[in-house]
Amino acid sequence: MSQIAARTGPPAEVTAGLLAIGLFESEEAPEDLREAASAATSSGDFSGKPNETALLYTNGAIAAPRLLLVGLGEEASFTLEKLRRAAATAAKKARSLKVRETAFMPRSPAGFGTADTARTAAEGAALGLYRFDRYKTGGEDANDLPESLHLLLPEAGEAADRAVREGESLANAASLARDLANEPSNTATPEYLAEVAREISGRHDMQLTVLDRAGIEAEGLTGLATVGRSAVNEPRFIVLEHRKGGEAPPVVLVGKAVTFDSGGISIKPAAGMEDMKFDMSGGAAVLGAMEAVGALELPINVVALVPATENLPGGDAFKPGDVLRMYSGKTVEILSTDAEGRLILADALSYARRYKPAAVVDCATLTGACHVALGDHAAGLMGNDEALISEVRAAGEKAGERAWPLPLFDEYTEQIKGDTADIKNSGGRFGGALTAGAFLKEFADYPWAHLDIAGVAYGKKGNAYTPKGATGTPARLLVEFLVGRADTSPDEGGTR
Ligand code: BES
Ligand code: MN
Ligand code: ZN
Repeated sequence: MSQIAARTGPPAEVTAGLLAIGLFESEEAPEDLREAASAATSSGDFSGKPNETALLYTNGAIAAPRLLLVGLGEEASFTLEKLRRAAATAAKKARSLKVRETAFMPRSPAGFGTADTARTAAEGAALGLYRFDRYKTGGEDANDLPESLHLLLPEAGEAADRAVREGESLANAASLARDLANEPSNTATPEYLAEVAREISGRHDMQLTVLDRAGIEAEGLTGLATVGRSAVNEPRFIVLEHRKGGEAPPVVLVGKAVTFDSGGISIKPAAGMEDMKFDMSGGAAVLGAMEAVGALELPINVVALVPATENLPGGDAFKPGDVLRMYSGKTVEILSTDAEGRLILADALSYARRYKPAAVVDCATLTGACHVALGDHAAGLMGNDEALISEVRAAGEKAGERAWPLPLFDEYTEQIKGDTADIKNSGGRFGGALTAGAFLKEFADYPWAHLDIAGVAYGKKGNAYTPKGATGTPARLLVEFLVGRADTSPDEGGTR
């Protein structure tokens, strides 16, 4: 979407090529649109079920030549997530009609005001128009994108404008994350991710440090160096710093970026292995979130750490039975070279200590077990600090990117006690998401939360605002989390 703007005024006077309005189940269209809408509502063709649509030609009954009804479902169960989907449905319809100017009149869920409504509608519309078609010959046709979308709100002004910009930034965060994750591994190499981080740092005046293979080895980031050792596309350790919060301790975001996970010597089965290009979705989400943090100029300190590498077999590859001395000094026995994510994350978590962080949140496509546990509908959420876990969970709820708590009982730590070394990198078949979380916990000595996104980072189905492929999750969750922190940071006095 090129332009989203907040507007106010009577919908019947809107001159856009398409006027879209949200309607609840068995609700009549507003008075001044009733005549135009009646053919669909009174015939029973349109009942207001979620994302149901009816397109009407108004023949002069109102100023807009086309009226689109978008179902919102039952009013009593209306949520921001349903609004997000309805806005996406309207935007996609506008695109398929090749309408250049569209107006959408959203509705507010109970308990939410104009700002939240504007923000979420803008977010949903922008997300809905996302496509990844750069490799389809003739597919990249920006010309059919609507030129502008006006959100018709009860009130416009500075607060609504700011809300729309936040919504667009949330969508941009997810779109960047989706682009990076959808990009195949022959293009999206560790250096490619570093290059994107370079662009973000240039756009938003952030500090960037990129360690190459020699730098990673010299620093002692053994986990990352070892996983990346056999790869021709060299590993990178990306450090991107947004410093707009004075002397306050930063939030550190850590994202797993295995640009292709073959499993290494513990090689994965061939079927479905193509999906392992998505194994950098955590890093992609962190970079996407940083783009939004920069665009919104959040008045806080945020450090992004993205360990990036391929995991491939080769003559120089690490092997089951190997023992690594990690960045923290702990020793790890390798049971499976396919449990590589926790190795690169462990070093990044240890590295995070130097920032004396207020909180660290990592996200990673870490375990198939997490997908089995929660299905396609929630990220697994673990950590060592209940308040932080609640905060992350609430941010996910707000973003429509659900995160669900899973336990890290001491017994899971017992399960990864090593025979030869301190710990081992696999706890066996049962409780795989939890033993992976317990492994990471060994390296986090500050308030820490971990999101296992293996089940939600990409999908074959999608929804109204997410096409199949990369979802961009949890980029928007992370932005919501940081916006929440900015709102309550002492610098701002909570007045934003
Ligand atoms: N990247 C995978 C996890 C994964 C699997 C993500 C399927 C998305 C879909 C991770 O590196 C991995 O291979 N984990 C192993 C761990 C096991 C060897 C302890 C797993 O989940 O099987
Ligand atoms: Mn793996
Ligand atoms: Zn992996």
